[in-house]
Amino acid sequence: MSLLEIEDLRVTFRTADGPVNAVNGLSFEIDKGETLAIVGESGSGKSQAAFAIMGLLARNGGATGKVNFDGTDLLSLSPRQLNKVRAQDIAMIFQDPMTSLNPYIRVRDQMAEVLQLHKGMSKKKAVAESVRMLDAVRIPDAKMRVSMFPHEFSGGMRQRIMIAMALLCHPRLLIADEPTTALDVTVQAQIMDLLTDIRKEFGTAIILITHDLGIVADSCDKTLVLYGGQIMEQGATTDVFAAPSHPYTKGLLKAVPRLDRDDDELQTIAGEPPDMSCLPAGCPFSPRCVQALPQCATTRPALDLFGAGRMRACHVPFAEVI
Ligand SMILES: Nc1ncnc2c1ncn2[C@@H]1O[C@H](COP(=O)(O)OP(=O)(O)O)[C@@H](O)[C@H]1O
Ligand SMILES: [Mg+2]
Repeated sequence: MSLLEIEDLRVTFRTADGPVNAVNGLSFEIDKGETLAIVGESGSGKSQAAFAIMGLLARNGGATGKVNFDGTDLLSLSPRQLNKVRAQDIAMIFQDPMTSLNPYIRVRDQMAEVLQLHKGMSKKKAVAESVRMLDAVRIPDAKMRVSMFPHEFSGGMRQRIMIAMALLCHPRLLIADEPTTALDVTVQAQIMDLLTDIRKEFGTAIILITHDLGIVADSCDKTLVLYGGQIMEQGATTDVFAAPSHPYTKGLLKAVPRLDRDDDELQTIAGEPPDMSCLPAGCPFSPRCVQALPQCATTRPALDLFGAGRMRACHVPFAEVI
């Protein structure tokens, strides 16, 4: 049994203009200590899938399917039971650290409170543990800086504090939603290295959500490509990068800057992300796909297994994807 098994997850929002289908049949697994990247352009349903797993959807949203965490279906838990899982076993971090940190409360007090509340620690022990965790996320001089306010740190350092805070209760799963998007490239790389270290040190399984395929290559075991709330392809990251099997993945890869290529060769995918309130009957990517066949507009391609651990949903034969 995997740590997390998602089966046919669907998320729908009720709106005045009718239903918005943000996630449309998502299935995947992640093992203990494994890292999975969920990649796709803005609006492809990445964050809502994560919120559904965490039970944090907006009030007009609903989720169906199965979210089995260590054998328990989280979608069937009461709010109280879910709170316990969220506090102890699953943590989530966001693009903006200030969604989790109060700028005007000392880091020491914010972190210690978590441990006092969920682990019943004394304040003194909780502060010591907080310092240890700040050390683990490579905050220099943590013992002294734990007394500072979040607003006194740089953006990259704040992101580290948020990661430390998320790790305080040793979650078995960490969901990182665009954790480096607001940071410059050097700091981005440092945070990604940090996530890799954390997974080694604590055995934490990590779901990394990003629109940027560029940061995935060295840091994740598996990659899942999402479009229109549906899986376009999925597999070991090395395989997906070496031989992308879907025109959408190809398009995303062509848009990643690379050292061995002039930047003027960078191409973005023409067209707009789909409107989730009226997805096409066929493949959601078909209106923008340069290789679309007539049936792509009318019939949704099945997500088929091919090769070791790889899946793709595309009518174009693998060998013909350019
Ligand atoms: N509360 C809401 N009501 C209606 N639609 C929503 C709501 N929250 C998100 N959506 C829609 O869900 C879709 C997926 O959004 P999201 O998962 O946030 O995308 P991303 O892949 O950029 O994280 C978008 O079309 C968005 O407009
Ligand atoms: Mg998002």
